[in-house]
Amino acid sequence: MAEKFFVTTALPYANGPFHIGHIMEYIQADIWVRFQRMQGHQVHFVGADDAHGAPIMLKAEAEGISPQQLVARIAAGRPRYLQGFHIGFDHWHSTDSPENVALSQDIYRRLKAAGLIYSKPVEQFYDPVKGMFLADRYIKGECPNCHSKDQYGDACEVCSTVYAPTDLIEPYSVLTGARPVLKTSDHLFFRLSDPKCIDFLDGWTTAPGRLQPQVANKAREWLSGKDDQALGDWDISRDAPYFGIPIPDAPGKYFYVWLDAPIGYLASLQSYFASGKARANGEPRSFEEFLAAPDTKQIHFIGKDIIYFHTLFWPAMLRFAGPPYKVPDNVYVHGFITVSGEKMSKSRGTGISPLRYLDIGMSPEWLRYYIAAKLNANVEDLDFNPEDFVARVNSDLVGKYVNIASRAANFITRHFDGALAYAGDVEALRGQAAELARQVGESYEAREFGRAMREIMAYADRINQDFDARQPWVLAKDPAKRAELQDICSRTLYGFKLLSVLLAPVLPEVGARVARELYGLERAFGWPDALELPQRVNAYRHLMTRVDPKQLDALFEAESPAAAATAAAAPAAPARAAGSAAKAGAAAAAPATISIDEFKRLDLRVARIVAAEHVTGADKLLKLTLDLGTGTRTVFAGIKSAYDPAALTGRLTIMVANLAPRKMKFGVSEGMVLAASDESGGPYLLSPDSGAAPGMRVS
Ligand code: MSP
Ligand code: ZN
Repeated sequence: MAEKFFVTTALPYANGPFHIGHIMEYIQADIWVRFQRMQGHQVHFVGADDAHGAPIMLKAEAEGISPQQLVARIAAGRPRYLQGFHIGFDHWHSTDSPENVALSQDIYRRLKAAGLIYSKPVEQFYDPVKGMFLADRYIKGECPNCHSKDQYGDACEVCSTVYAPTDLIEPYSVLTGARPVLKTSDHLFFRLSDPKCIDFLDGWTTAPGRLQPQVANKAREWLSGKDDQALGDWDISRDAPYFGIPIPDAPGKYFYVWLDAPIGYLASLQSYFASGKARANGEPRSFEEFLAAPDTKQIHFIGKDIIYFHTLFWPAMLRFAGPPYKVPDNVYVHGFITVSGEKMSKSRGTGISPLRYLDIGMSPEWLRYYIAAKLNANVEDLDFNPEDFVARVNSDLVGKYVNIASRAANFITRHFDGALAYAGDVEALRGQAAELARQVGESYEAREFGRAMREIMAYADRINQDFDARQPWVLAKDPAKRAELQDICSRTLYGFKLLSVLLAPVLPEVGARVARELYGLERAFGWPDALELPQRVNAYRHLMTRVDPKQLDALFEAESPAAAATAAAAPAAPARAAGSAAKAGAAAAAPATISIDEFKRLDLRVARIVAAEHVTGADKLLKLTLDLGTGTRTVFAGIKSAYDPAALTGRLTIMVANLAPRKMKFGVSEGMVLAASDESGGPYLLSPDSGAAPGMRVS
């Protein structure tokens, strides 16, 4: 029976472009969705930008634009990635939307009516200069345990002690450097500790098949209040200034971003229904009817860092808001992608730039296959290893899979004008195919994609062996063996069709081309095509090239200046520490003249310092995050002796944007800021006159 799915992936923060971690999550969900569709099920697959919260508000402010403008700019960049990697969302929306305002306020009112909302004064650090309450990450100070300086307000990165921001010695606001003061304000809470919530969650998290065992265990730990940490109520309000959704009947208060973020799943679905696309995708009912229907399966794909929100708060919110809201059927959690064994930062996707991957002409289907081959249904991290990538793609996709078609189809085209004919019994062949399709189908269904790829490649090996064993190149020379030649090539090309159907969730473009070009179908493959023996093939046309290891070098190389200026958050280039260069040249004799063309090779840009931090263990360097208008760069600058990081945040300076990246002890430096100095003093950082904006070229 056809099932009806509502599938989502986590909503990415709209403060930066996609990184490889996002793309991995979308590829996982997209493969599963395509598999379900090939089974004849109806799937509505939606995403959205997570637009609200303090970081986006502050980033926009630092750029001198509104948060809406920032979010719109990020949203405008999304389609390139999604189309580029063949990720087939039916709809993409935003949490900063009228649908989300209405849904969030509605759910809140229902929770309030259910007696699950209360108000309580909270004493919190407040930045008197900025006029704003400070989240833990905006407060730094000395660790009360090991006395390391400049530690965040929630935990020490040096000794790992967890504490409250009020425990910090000499706390300061990261935003202004001011000493924060304690101030009390009423906050609204969601009563997660209410026995009816706990009861419900005990049942929901342990329902058979709902959550992966590791995830259910985590949820059970939280629910049973292990480590004396009784399940706490949830603080869902934030005071102005905040970029978020106003809380009804609570002037100056906004929903905490994590309250309205998952509701954004529903907002996107609603907007998708309103657009008419749901109807076009086979769903005649209204948004509310579809959502409330007992046979609608609501499924969320997420990463391991956001389990708490998705297995406790979110189901409880939905359950106690009541119909048409319905609790999720499954939350499927994946691990993190690492690159050559290294973690990437969550905010800045170092490692691999997805756009660079596409721009240098690498096939999106290679990455889809590689990720599929390494994924299973557990919450395990997955490593992108360049050598392994080249080896797997070349040996599996090209060596085993694509080669089958080119070898067999050429005989059929040359000797039989495209006609296939099977000698003898084909029932055994069909039986094998049915068994393989069943196994692979089970693996896809269970998100055991690695197992599915192994099953498929084992069968590809077998097809190649059978083909070789019958030596068609020998048969082709003997007119008496014509029928035999046609039979082995036909069986091989049926095998290729079978493999193409089974790989289509992972390789949608190759699958569509094979269906159309080779087998002459006027539609994409469905799962039942796996059992249909083809009767003709068209001439083989080249399907896929090998990965050239040089492409991997290019992927990891520093970007060219031109690319760096357009691609945001790409791994780029680094810097010499300011100061050292200036010193060398200072009082020295005037250097030889250079031509204007030589000067033009320098890409000097106006940049805004959006963050400045001390670097643990470095006595000269500050770590600067520079906004270039099109994205941010990290630069380690030797200006610590002269500048307090707090005083740098927000100011404009000039950077060399096309210096080759340089790996330093503390990380990669992606450019250089300009400063003046000589024996008498410095460094003095350069600043443009007012009116200059990040990204402007200096010439
Ligand atoms: N905005 C929240 C989610 C709200 S959902 C209602 C958020 N955004 S995020 O941009 O930080 O992360 C989006 C998704 O990307 C999450 O599922 C997260 O786990 C995933 N990933 C972030 N880094 C990742 C890797 N390195 N590898 C795989 N997925 C990763 O959290
Ligand atoms: Zn410490």
